[in-house]
Amino acid sequence: MKAVVSTFKLGVLIGTRDKKTPFSMDLFDKLRPDSGPLAQYAFLKDSYFMFPKLEGDLGSRMMFGGKERIMWSINNYLGLGNHPEVRKIDGESAARWGLAAPMGARMMSGNSDLHEQLEKELSDFVMKEDTILFNFGYQGICSAIDALTDRRDVIVYDAESHACIVDGVRLHQGKRFVFKHNDIENCERMLQRASELVVQTGGAILLISEGVFGMGGDQGKLKEIVELKKKYNFRLLVDDAHGFGTLGATGAGAGEEQGVQDEIDLYFSTFAKSMASVGAFMSSKKHVVQHLRYSIRSQIFAKSLALPVVEGNLKRLELLRSQPEHKEKLWKNVRMLQSGLRERGFDLGETNSCVTPVYLKGSVVEAAKLIYDIRENFNVFCSAVVYPVIPKGQLLLRLIPTASHTEKDIEETLEAFTTVGKRLSEGYYDTQEVPV
Ligand SMILES: Cc1ncc(COP(=O)(O)O)c(C=O)c1O
Repeated sequence: MKAVVSTFKLGVLIGTRDKKTPFSMDLFDKLRPDSGPLAQYAFLKDSYFMFPKLEGDLGSRMMFGGKERIMWSINNYLGLGNHPEVRKIDGESAARWGLAAPMGARMMSGNSDLHEQLEKELSDFVMKEDTILFNFGYQGICSAIDALTDRRDVIVYDAESHACIVDGVRLHQGKRFVFKHNDIENCERMLQRASELVVQTGGAILLISEGVFGMGGDQGKLKEIVELKKKYNFRLLVDDAHGFGTLGATGAGAGEEQGVQDEIDLYFSTFAKSMASVGAFMSSKKHVVQHLRYSIRSQIFAKSLALPVVEGNLKRLELLRSQPEHKEKLWKNVRMLQSGLRERGFDLGETNSCVTPVYLKGSVVEAAKLIYDIRENFNVFCSAVVYPVIPKGQLLLRLIPTASHTEKDIEETLEAFTTVGKRLSEGYYDTQEVPV
């Protein structure tokens, strides 16, 4: 029997195939370009609901489908995307360096004084000892989670974490416990379980939350989470993509806003929002950042940020520090938009940030018709979030106010919302043709 088994194994190893073995399914035949959480809506008009093309200068009014629309769909919070000084440095820097330099990963041949200067200035700004740059926020945080933990460690994270955190947790080979979104009691229960487990494994605990949750706009309960440090031993990683530049007295983010910046052990943000650029960073204690430099795979095995991007980010950071008027204008607009919507009876959920969600009731098809109506008849462009990202029967229209918006933009938008909200509740969209 033993000999038979080993002959069979040998056959598998050298690749012999029993002629009767049926061919397995072809990988490409399995692909379903029209199903899945997002692709199921691919039947809707091309480049209209999905992959729309916004044209013209970044600002509160942009071109879409050949017409000017009031734009609520870009994360250009401080309006820096089209700031004259930003446009100037981006252009000059691209002319000086091109997009190639530096060639190579930071560790090998892609380092520069400018990269190090940006890391130093970011560390000072977010009040941490040291900083490491990432090429993209998504890859950076995924890879940082991987580099920070090993199989003995336990990750505790919020259920509504951004995909980049969820995917970082997927890379983790040890245990993970998810807690109900912003539910501190449930978070504590998970910490208890994690604490018991790491005593057995000899590992440690990483807790991950966000400064601002990008869909609902509610800030992570960082103050309450930090309180739990008195009872449990864990390190706190905060993804502050939407808080950086928009929250806190100096714009250092949700930790500064809640008075717990010192207690955030690993502070992460992308440059893709307030900084209106590309790239990201993580700040922490010196030895932690040093560890990341030598072990984070997304940076060690990838070309470093191009010099014009680094130089452009230095300019944006300088403006963020020296021109607080952009943040003030942003918040003036946030207050006007959010109070206007609330006064008109709209449900904005739990937001306590710039992210402005408007929760409505309706089907996915009604959402498509409403979006079509508000775009074509009111020239208002905002994003819609539908099932399965949020529960069935709910619609979420998400508005991102920026410093570039004017009172007129906000007034016209409030008028538009009043009309489409009324139409939705009266069943108007049930009777319309699907705009595809
Ligand atoms: C909360 C959050 N984290 C991380 C990211 C990813 O950042 P990046 O666009 O730099 O990959 C985003 C989206 O930009 C985000 O909203």
